[in-house]
Amino acid sequence: MSDTGVLTSLGAVNPLDPGQRLLVVGGGYTGQRFAERLRQLGADVVVTHRRAPAAAGELPFDSSTGLLPSASELQGISHLLVTAPPDRQGQDPCLSSLKPLLDGLPLQWTGYLSTTGVYGNQRGEWVDESTPPAADLLPRSQARLQCEQAWLNSGWPVQVFRLPGIYGPRRNNLLALQRGDARHVHKPGQVFCRVHVDDIVGALLHCLRLPATQRPSILNVCDNRPAPSSELLGYSAHLLGCPLPELQWFEAVEGNMSPMALSFWRDNRRVSNRKLTQALGYALTYPSYREGLQACLKAEAPD
Ligand SMILES: NC(=O)c1ccc[n+]([C@@H]2O[C@H](COP(=O)([O-])OP(=O)(O)OC[C@H]3O[C@@H](n4cnc5c(N)ncnc54)[C@H](OP(=O)(O)O)[C@@H]3O)[C@@H](O)[C@H]2O)c1
Repeated sequence: MSDTGVLTSLGAVNPLDPGQRLLVVGGGYTGQRFAERLRQLGADVVVTHRRAPAAAGELPFDSSTGLLPSASELQGISHLLVTAPPDRQGQDPCLSSLKPLLDGLPLQWTGYLSTTGVYGNQRGEWVDESTPPAADLLPRSQARLQCEQAWLNSGWPVQVFRLPGIYGPRRNNLLALQRGDARHVHKPGQVFCRVHVDDIVGALLHCLRLPATQRPSILNVCDNRPAPSSELLGYSAHLLGCPLPELQWFEAVEGNMSPMALSFWRDNRRVSNRKLTQALGYALTYPSYREGLQACLKAEAPD
């Protein structure tokens, strides 16, 4: 299926009513994909970037420099999706800088993209939305949890979407294998969870189409199959028909890893998507990395 075909399969109804307008704070990987799909459905969407606006529908916003959109540019915003992560001080860029401008708006829905890192290390056990965070959260996960709380306490109708590793077109390990910089590291018992970017888009649209009273305040958005990263790399090499890089045991290479890379290997958990797929009835387009990587391969194939 082509990239456009995939987006088209994510439901054909504009979730916004005429006159409603959605602001995406942070037109990065997921924010841009979501905006693209909503625009295809006919919705009025504006997206912020830290660089100067380069096209219609783009607004400037950078909390670190104080670059803000004007009140008139935000006129009529009824829905908000926040994709910007906490800043270096652990504060939410949107709440710390945009809130005075947003306070005047009649927000009917706010989606906040968070991370499943807030569950911390659960030693490979399953977690769902009711699982309390582990006691020894990483500092960045602690900051994220505080940002989630700040949004949930903001007084607006907020949904927090907890995401695992995001992959999709132009962001996947097929590309790393093709570039020759994939690492084949294995730590026995360690799994990672992930989600295809179009299932984030699909889950957001699904929630927007639900009656407001049925939208959960916290929702995991991940696929069905937690798996070791070595398993994914093996499948990617199989799809490409290329050799796997030599296996490296985690224990043998951890001493050469950056603190950031090490922190990802510290947490081990299996994240349940039952609320999304069973209670809310969302059908994943990519139930596992297998379907997702196959689609990435097709989307990236030369015409
Ligand atoms: N990537 C993953 O695997 C993963 C996993 C779990 C959770 N998440 C979280 O999910 C969210 C979306 O992820 P993503 O990968 O789509 O993110 P992304 O591509 O990095 O996009 C983040 C967006 O936030 C904007 N931004 C960052 N800091 C800002 C600031 N101080 N002021 C204004 N705008 C700011 C960026 O602006 P520019 O466009 O100017 O760069 C960018 O548009 C993020 O919060 C991320 O931390 C990501």
